[in-house]
Amino acid sequence: MDLSLEEFVALDESAKAAYVGDCAILYAQQFDRPDLDAYCSLADICRALHKMPVGAEFMASLLPHRMALNFFVQPSSRTFMSFNAAQLMLGMKRMSVRDVAISSMSKGETLADSVRTFMSYVDCIVMRHPDEHAGDVAVWIAMHAMRTIHIGGEERPIPIISGGSGTKQHPTQSLLDIYTLEKSFEHVGGIDGKTIMLVGDLKRGRTVRSLSYLLKNYRDVRLLFAAPEIYQMEPDILEFCDRHHMPWEKLDSLDAGIARADAIYMTRIQDEWDGLAKGAHTKATDRFVFKAEHLDRMKDEAYLLHPLPKRDEVDPALDYTDDRRVVYWRQERNGMWMRVAILAQLFRVDQAIRDFAATQGIK
Ligand code: CP
Repeated sequence: MDLSLEEFVALDESAKAAYVGDCAILYAQQFDRPDLDAYCSLADICRALHKMPVGAEFMASLLPHRMALNFFVQPSSRTFMSFNAAQLMLGMKRMSVRDVAISSMSKGETLADSVRTFMSYVDCIVMRHPDEHAGDVAVWIAMHAMRTIHIGGEERPIPIISGGSGTKQHPTQSLLDIYTLEKSFEHVGGIDGKTIMLVGDLKRGRTVRSLSYLLKNYRDVRLLFAAPEIYQMEPDILEFCDRHHMPWEKLDSLDAGIARADAIYMTRIQDEWDGLAKGAHTKATDRFVFKAEHLDRMKDEAYLLHPLPKRDEVDPALDYTDDRRVVYWRQERNGMWMRVAILAQLFRVDQAIRDFAATQGIK
């Protein structure tokens, strides 16, 4: 089925995910459980392999002929840096565009023309953009442009990866969140059967939306949405949970869920979306702040995550605690390994990594 750009953009995300297949990473709905298990195991292998000089050297020999563009026109530290680090580990060359004011977009060039122009020079685009449809535009162009690249014995469109788009999707963050949850729950049966509490600004939090989509791939997961009513999870995600038989509950405080939660996923108020709105909130409401004393009320096998950056919603006393349940710094580093796995899989060097790792005794 071919679609015009306008027809494609008008589809719902699940239909878009089916249309783009494995040409891009834009929607968390693209992934099923075998995909998630494969990404997590590949991230683990890359982590172990890169610790060995011979492994790091092998990984850097895989994609030296590939050029990536990191097109980030919204602020980012960890997504931008971890993609850069992942590209370097795989030997890729890379460029970045971070400011439209010094690109030809400031002369009136459309996003579509800009993206097509980027595709003339690079083999992959990682993009963060405030417009939730920017990735749709980019992937449709990639799928219709004459320029293709040879990957794994096939001519394929230039891969497009979302590094966060509008308030709706942050698929690579949700992949690293799944990786962090899997590793945290490694000795207690994995993610299946767990209760995950999402806290804070759920309405405009693209990380919590994408994570909710991915969690439907696990058995008997229950979601607790703890947020002030104005920042509660949007109805489309609640309907998605219902459709996939994933029980959920809205809570009006973190306290209401802390004793039941196996993971507590904090988020900050996303006030960058308020513009200059009068009365916009910038501070977390006290009922949704994770305080040091909350550690005493968490389960022994529960974990505290945050996609970061954080502000006042987590007590800074927790930052350098030796409590192994506080995992947000580990989560941040996991992002780099997951992004190595994502790039390796997109460029079809995943099997080469697995094969080489096996020769080094890594499985
Ligand atoms: N979690 C995340 O997306 O962080 P950055 O905005 O720093 O990339």
